[in-house]
Amino acid sequence: MSYIIMKIKKISSIETYTVRHEVLRKGKPIETCQFKGDDDENTSHFGCYFDDKLVGIISIFKEKNNLFSESNQFQIRGMAVLEAFQGKGFGAQLVKKAENHCINLNADLIWFNARENAVPFYKKLDYKIIGDSFLIPNVGIHFVMYKKIH
Ligand SMILES: CC(C)(COP(=O)(O)OP(=O)(O)OC[C@H]1O[C@@H](n2cnc3c(N)ncnc32)[C@H](O)[C@@H]1OP(=O)(O)O)[C@@H](O)C(=O)NCCC(=O)NCCS
Repeated sequence: MSYIIMKIKKISSIETYTVRHEVLRKGKPIETCQFKGDDDENTSHFGCYFDDKLVGIISIFKEKNNLFSESNQFQIRGMAVLEAFQGKGFGAQLVKKAENHCINLNADLIWFNARENAVPFYKKLDYKIIGDSFLIPNVGIHFVMYKKIH
């Protein structure tokens, strides 16, 4: 019998760079992999490991969006799974890990700017779109998506 060895653990911001670069900032300078607030005390990063290889990442920032009235809001950023490992459930597990982390911090709401291509993925995880699409220069069309936690 064979077992798939997958585990998710907390990682540093710098550890996210290999996957951020490959999936989210391909062909761009490595400096573009650094996000504002990456090392703030309320920011956390999780990595998904498959056979000890980092294959997916997610970051959670304490960040309020004025579209929402809830006070304790968290933003997901830098959600990415290496192409060869997509479609195996790792992305969904990372979002669930981030949700549990936010629940432990008494979050009221999770929101993020979703790339157009990732909207169906987040809808499957019960996130909803609010408002119209908008363009993030050099990245593409996005939608704000959210889930109320309480
Ligand atoms: C979007 C992304 C994070 C999803 O991660 P993943 O590991 O491939 O997703 P999962 O395998 O966990 O998929 C969970 C479910 O969503 C579905 N899904 C995933 N990506 C999808 C997509 N682009 N369109 C439609 N459905 C999708 C899967 O089929 C699966 O459905 P199921 O539960 O019925 O089997 C990953 O594809 C990725 O890194 N894409 C490129 C970068 C990106 O767009 N990041 C998001 C920035 S906002």
